[in-house]
Amino acid sequence: MKFFIDTANLEQIREAAGFGILDGVTTNPSLMAKEGIIEQSTRIKEICAITPTPVSAEVLATDTEPMIEEGIKLSGLAPNVVVKIPMTINGLLATKVLSGRGIKVNVTLIFSAVQALLAAKAGAAYVSPFVGRLDDTGVNGLQVVEEILTIMDNYDFETEVIVASVRHTQHVAGAAIIGADICTIPFAVIKQLSGHPLTDKGLAAFLADHAKIAAH
Ligand code: G3P
Repeated sequence: MKFFIDTANLEQIREAAGFGILDGVTTNPSLMAKEGIIEQSTRIKEICAITPTPVSAEVLATDTEPMIEEGIKLSGLAPNVVVKIPMTINGLLATKVLSGRGIKVNVTLIFSAVQALLAAKAGAAYVSPFVGRLDDTGVNGLQVVEEILTIMDNYDFETEVIVASVRHTQHVAGAAIIGADICTIPFAVIKQLSGHPLTDKGLAAFLADHAKIAAH
C-alpha cells in the first residue's frame, strides 16, 4: 500500500519525506486554508519541489468549463500534479475531459461505491473515499472501500483507490488489510504508526539488561 500525506504543511511534508516512505501528497481547500493560503499555486509548486511523487491539488470551480480551465492550470504547475475534482455531475464531465487530455484526476468526496464506479468510468486515475466522515455517520467507511475495490477489480479499472479522511492508525491497518492501493494520512497519524508502548518497554528492558551485565 502506498502512503500519501494529507496536508499542505511544508514542514510536515519534508519530515514525512525524510522517513523514506512517502509516496504522494494530497491537499484540499480546507488544508490550504489551515495554512492561511488563499491562492494555492505557489504552495503546490513548493510541495512539488520537495517530492516528485503525485501531489493532488483541488479545483475551487464548480461549473464544468471553469473546472477544466483550473485543472489545466494546476496540472501545468509541475509534472507530478494530480488534479482533484469533487464528485459531482460537473466534476465527472470535467474528469472525462481532463483525463482525455492525459491529465491525472483524483475524484474526491466519494461516499459510496457507485460514486466511485462513475468516477472510474469518467477516467479518474484515483478515487478518494472518505472513511472517517462515513464512520461519523454510522456507516463503516472501510466497508465502502472494500466494495469499491471489488468493483475496480471486477472490471479491471486502473483507477487507484485512495483511502482518505483517515483519523487513526486502525484506518491505516484496515485499508492495508482490504488491499487499498493508497492511504492518505494526516501527519499526526503517520507519526503514531511506528510506535507501540510494548516496543518502548521492550527496548528499555533490553538496554537495562545489557547495562546490568556490562557493569560487572
Ligand atoms: O483527505 C480528505 C481529508 O483531508 C478529510 O479529512 O478528517 O476532514 O474528514 P477529514
